[in-house]
Amino acid sequence: MIIDNHPFFVNEKGHLEIDGADTVDLANKYGTPLYVYDVSIIRNNCRAFIDTFNKLGVKAKVSYASKAFSSVAMLQVMKQEGMHLDVVSGGELFTALEANFPTDRIHLHGNNKSPQELSMAIENEIGCIVVDNFYEIQLLEDLLGKMNKTMDILLRVTPGVESKTHQYIMTGNEDSKFGFNLSNGQAEEAFKLVHNHPSLRFRGLHCHIGSQIFEPERFTAAAERLFDELAKWKEVYGYTPEVLNLGGGFGIRYTVQDSPLSYNIYVESLVDHVKKHADKLDIPLPEIWLEPGRAIAGNAGITLYSVGSRKNIPGVRSYVSVDGGMTDNLRPALYNAEYEAVIANKAKLPAVNEVSVAGKCCESGDMLIWDLPLPEIDDGDILAVFSTGAYGYSMANHYNRIPKAAVVFVENGKDKLVVKRETYKDIVANDLSYL
Ligand code: LLP
Repeated sequence: MIIDNHPFFVNEKGHLEIDGADTVDLANKYGTPLYVYDVSIIRNNCRAFIDTFNKLGVKAKVSYASKAFSSVAMLQVMKQEGMHLDVVSGGELFTALEANFPTDRIHLHGNNKSPQELSMAIENEIGCIVVDNFYEIQLLEDLLGKMNKTMDILLRVTPGVESKTHQYIMTGNEDSKFGFNLSNGQAEEAFKLVHNHPSLRFRGLHCHIGSQIFEPERFTAAAERLFDELAKWKEVYGYTPEVLNLGGGFGIRYTVQDSPLSYNIYVESLVDHVKKHADKLDIPLPEIWLEPGRAIAGNAGITLYSVGSRKNIPGVRSYVSVDGGMTDNLRPALYNAEYEAVIANKAKLPAVNEVSVAGKCCESGDMLIWDLPLPEIDDGDILAVFSTGAYGYSMANHYNRIPKAAVVFVENGKDKLVVKRETYKDIVANDLSYL
């Protein structure tokens, strides 16, 4: 039996399965809370993007936005799948180096890259830096001069396309901390600085309009805005871009309310649009780069929790607390993000009650799911929350000095621990005595 709305099965014991492994066995073996990934889904997600570009015969790079979930094991899988990589910090770049990820397939983002981070990128000869602001142009120019190196760059621009998503994950609108503004001429000013630059090898434009976007038209609208600008640059400066990076943001299903399209539809519609615009401008088709993060990792991950205390307030609601919460999944507290879940050991049983799932942090806002229909709950039950693969572990924190949960990968029935559970010793590892 397949679980409603999510790509997982229930086995003959009535337990939720992930890529052939019984989630109840995983919870017993590794403890909870536990992030578990279905590696086959991760691979299929990568292939949906790459294969569509290949089928269309279009030169493209699909970069995994590693902020969604970065770990050595994850980046090893990305390497195997032929993905490129988007990193946004020295730490994400370091993880890629630890995973032996080919550096020429990495590009660096960030609205405030430090001189150290830029130097690290230059020394390791990464493929490209996506330049975000005037300060960075100057910094990069100075560093490349001192190090006697060159670097491929894209300019990140804000196309002024609003996406219908949470304000905190909206990035393509004009009032944004990211990128050069297209409409007020700042993008053109930046272009004039880097076009024909001896050490900054300007290869094209980047934009990212936000996250959890379902409508292909939002992406094509952004591409259209870029082409308006490129038409001007062609006429005035004779410039033709080699690369158009249209970012990430492809939406996934968290709950039944989300209806994501197959990834090939976004790719096909984007390619179609970019081709039309390139033809109209009479320029060769630029290489198309994308940066999906959530679309690669999100629906492949679940989180397993042990059910603990319960509190029923007659006429108000029933709370059930689990052994994790905003420390392993900050998204509900930060964005009011919604999730669905089942009792992993009762995955076939019908729901009889609505309960609200609380985290264990000392914070009333630490609620994972409100009003979730569930079967009768007993001690020892395991709650499995779906679609936690992106921005769960990567935004995990130590609030209330709670150690970070472990991560397990499962592929074709075989499970492997890929991130160890933290211990209390890890929590105090950097503390120094004052006495
Ligand atoms: N490229 C750029 C330049 C980005 O800023 C982002 C996300 C991505 C790609 C990947 O976006 P995705 O395909 O994963 O939607 N913490 C938030 C999401 C913040 C995303 C920031 N940038 C969340 O949990 O929803």
